[in-house]
Amino acid sequence: MEKYNKKVMDHFLNPRNMGKMQNPTVTGEAGNAVCGDVLFLYLKIEKNEEGKDIIKDVKFETFGCAAAIATSSALTEIIKGKTIDEAQRVSNKDVEEYLGQLPLIKKHCSNLAEDALKDALKKLKDKK
Ligand code: FES
Repeated sequence: MEKYNKKVMDHFLNPRNMGKMQNPTVTGEAGNAVCGDVLFLYLKIEKNEEGKDIIKDVKFETFGCAAAIATSSALTEIIKGKTIDEAQRVSNKDVEEYLGQLPLIKKHCSNLAEDALKDALKKLKDKK
């Protein structure tokens, strides 16, 4: 059976930015219909010196498998500090590249991260 690589294991065992955020600007949600795993992504949006909206802070809560937790953690590291426009271009491919390789049967787990980010950015747009 294919194993998780070291980076995936590290993000699973030491997840970055895990936990609930008080007063997020927006919360993205995603669920995997097949396994029932769920991800909540909390974003704090602020303007940078150039007046652009950026992801000032990000946290996540994932109720799911090891790959779902590791990819959620990786996503937070990728998008933290990015402008909204930049974050819009982040996909689950970026998450997989960041982590190296996910076992084939776990590839679908990274969809949670992309779906939650898309949901959060859509809600942010609707808010304006
Ligand atoms: S098995 Fe559900 S997201 Fe991985």
